Amino acid sequence: MKLLVCGGAGFIGSTFVRQRLLEHGDEVTVLDKLTYAGREENFHDFAEHPSFRFLRGAIEDPAAVSGAIDAAAPQAIVNFAAETHVDRSIAEPDAFVSTHALGTYVLLEAARAAALRYVQVSTDEVYGSIESGSFTEQSPLRPSSPYSATKTGADLLVQSYFHTYDLPAVIARGSNNYGPYQYPEKLIPLMILNALHGDALPVYGDGMQVRNWIHSTDFSRAIGHVLEHGVPGEVYNAGGPDEEANIDVVKRIIAATGASESQIEHVADRPGHDRRYSLSSDKVRALGWEPQVRFAEGLEQTVAWYRDNSWWWQPIRSGDYRAYYERQYGRTLA
Ligand code: NAD
Ligand code: TYD
Repeated sequence: MKLLVCGGAGFIGSTFVRQRLLEHGDEVTVLDKLTYAGREENFHDFAEHPSFRFLRGAIEDPAAVSGAIDAAAPQAIVNFAAETHVDRSIAEPDAFVSTHALGTYVLLEAARAAALRYVQVSTDEVYGSIESGSFTEQSPLRPSSPYSATKTGADLLVQSYFHTYDLPAVIARGSNNYGPYQYPEKLIPLMILNALHGDALPVYGDGMQVRNWIHSTDFSRAIGHVLEHGVPGEVYNAGGPDEEANIDVVKRIIAATGASESQIEHVADRPGHDRRYSLSSDKVRALGWEPQVRFAEGLEQTVAWYRDNSWWWQPIRSGDYRAYYERQYGRTLA
């Protein structure tokens, strides 16, 4: 296939691009704004691939989007482009509104004009928090944060383009991803790097919040199934095989890095913090997808990747991220 992948320079987008280029033989054009989270380093092992092209641009810019469609001549658009950190959405929601609402709108208009299949990459956070059981695709949408509320708005706009204009659009909603190339503002890479450096491990509140962890290669394969086999207008949840409380994730990371439990610091809780996420994935399983990576093993591999790839995180940890960390956590990194 020929694909236009928006937001392909980020964590999951670059994982998806790697799979499509190297395992499926697709031709892939990435359109990415390169925010703080988007990095050309994520293309290091396929940047020179003859079927790969990178264009820098924002999805809310109609000229950048039409230029990318002209260059790529794609059959489908897969949209990963987003602001993705809940804490940043609480501190500064502006970019979340413009990228998720306006950016998604511009992409949908372009997909409609060129009659392209469209895949929106979304999140379990649109359903809000669940005490027990798991969300299905029929569960009501009750987002809690500016991040999840603007992602929900984007999903609804995508569905409106299916209902109103027959745009062949599908939505893939993933649970919490982890794996190589994840920006260290998120729980797992933040804790790995802090553990390796002897820094404090800042656990929000009691640390008993539960997340449904999926390896980024598993979520990327689920998106591939939805792209190839998803029924237009439908939503597909893709959750990981394991759920774990944050404090237990941190303890696993301490054990894998040889850090000390005395590094754990319970800090003020996140405002509006969702207690638990859990997805039922029966519908995407019916398309032939199964998660392949169990959390215990995937987390060990992820710790090893960060330990072995300081070339990737060193420039982040010594750059703007330090200032972000000081603002968010009120303390400096080692
Ligand atoms: P990320 O923050 O690592 O990457 C986001 C990418 O989007 C970056 O490359 C960034 O430069 C790009 N981008 C941001 N705004 C843009 C714009 N206006 N125009 C063009 N490019 C722009 O995020 P990620 O974790 O890889 O998430 C990718 C997608 O998956 C997002 O839509 C996110 O909501 C969704 N998702 C993430 C998770 C998770 O746990 N990380 C779980 C479920 C769903
Ligand atoms: P995060 O990786 O930000 O993902 P999300 O908010 O999208 O689930 O956070 C995962 C969980 O870890 C969430 O319950 C918040 C918690 N957390 C901490 O306890 N400390 C931290 O420093 C961070 C970044 C997250």
